[in-house]
Amino acid sequence: MNTGKIKWGILGTGNIAHKFCQALKVVENAEIFAAGSRSLENAKKLSDEYNIPRYFGTYEELVKDSDVDVIYIATPHNLHYDNTIMCLENGKHVLCEKPFGVNGREVRAMIAKAKEKNLFLMEAMWSRFLPNLLKAKEIVDSGKIGKVKLLTAYFAILSNQGLAERHFNIDLCGGSLLDIGIYPVFLSLFILGKPTVFKALASIGLTGVDESCSVIFKYGEETLSVLCSSFLVNSDILAEIHGEKGKIVFDKVWFTPVNIKIVMNNGDEIPVPLQFKGNGYNYEAEEVVKCLQACKIQSDIMSWEKSLELIDMLDAIRKETGIYYPKHDYR
Ligand SMILES: NC(=O)c1ccc[n+]([C@@H]2O[C@H](COP(=O)([O-])OP(=O)(O)OC[C@H]3O[C@@H](n4cnc5c(N)ncnc54)[C@H](OP(=O)(O)O)[C@@H]3O)[C@@H](O)[C@H]2O)c1
Repeated sequence: MNTGKIKWGILGTGNIAHKFCQALKVVENAEIFAAGSRSLENAKKLSDEYNIPRYFGTYEELVKDSDVDVIYIATPHNLHYDNTIMCLENGKHVLCEKPFGVNGREVRAMIAKAKEKNLFLMEAMWSRFLPNLLKAKEIVDSGKIGKVKLLTAYFAILSNQGLAERHFNIDLCGGSLLDIGIYPVFLSLFILGKPTVFKALASIGLTGVDESCSVIFKYGEETLSVLCSSFLVNSDILAEIHGEKGKIVFDKVWFTPVNIKIVMNNGDEIPVPLQFKGNGYNYEAEEVVKCLQACKIQSDIMSWEKSLELIDMLDAIRKETGIYYPKHDYR
């Protein structure tokens, strides 16, 4: 049992790295200890903002710092595999942003390396740890809304990024499915499990990545999930789980810490009291700290099996829709 403070290294200093640093402030037994960036200037900026004692102008220096316990990888998707392997090779535990890898082959190799090195590895699927998703699953499993017949989940934002930036750049493995469509797909897998069959269509833009993607999962004969992602329009980012007796309605931006309610078929609304802490990214970090303290190399909650289920589903959707990353996929 490791009872000391867990020392975190932050690899990459973009948008999500900032949110994660804010989150770590409310996590017990955790310390933001070092930052690594492609530029010393950006590493220093992050360290100034969050009082991070050490900072480095290369990722290599960060992973070689012998005082760092675990590294949070916050780089574009195309780098998750290389960055994870480098961390593990240098004896660091890893929490890696979603999508874990670009495809199942990369994720399997990352897991094999974690096993070989006996080091912790988890996908940063933060929504899996949020009170609203956990409660929705509990309500469904309790039978309160009856057998689920339809799940709808959308995540569409009008991206203001240029074609060379992360959302649209094929070399960075851009596209809506891997970036934001992963959440609706995850929700359906989490609530209902693996579908019996699915259909999917994507619209592929000028840069070769999917600008929008729609997926329908079918479970047995009676249950469908309708899932959608896009970088071309602003949706209300809604999710609902419809059962025979009633439905669970998430507030807007359902995959973040938001309230949910139950609406029964007769119109009765049942509020669901929930308590939230931090900005929501703290829950996944707390799980990592707990696992490291218990000397575990994977989480029972966001396990390797669950990450493989997710990436294999995304691979299948990509195959069906023709979303192809030439530097990562081998046909
Ligand atoms: N869990 C969530 O809610 C959530 C939200 C947003 C994003 N994400 C995930 O987090 C990852 C990063 O997303 P982000 O929104 O933080 O992206 P971002 O703002 O573009 O930051 C990515 C960072 O990666 C580093 N980087 C290394 N090579 C790069 C390259 N060729 N182009 C651009 N940046 C490069 C840069 O940091 P340095 O310059 O410091 O090296 C950059 O600041 C993605 O995989 C995304 O799916 C997760």
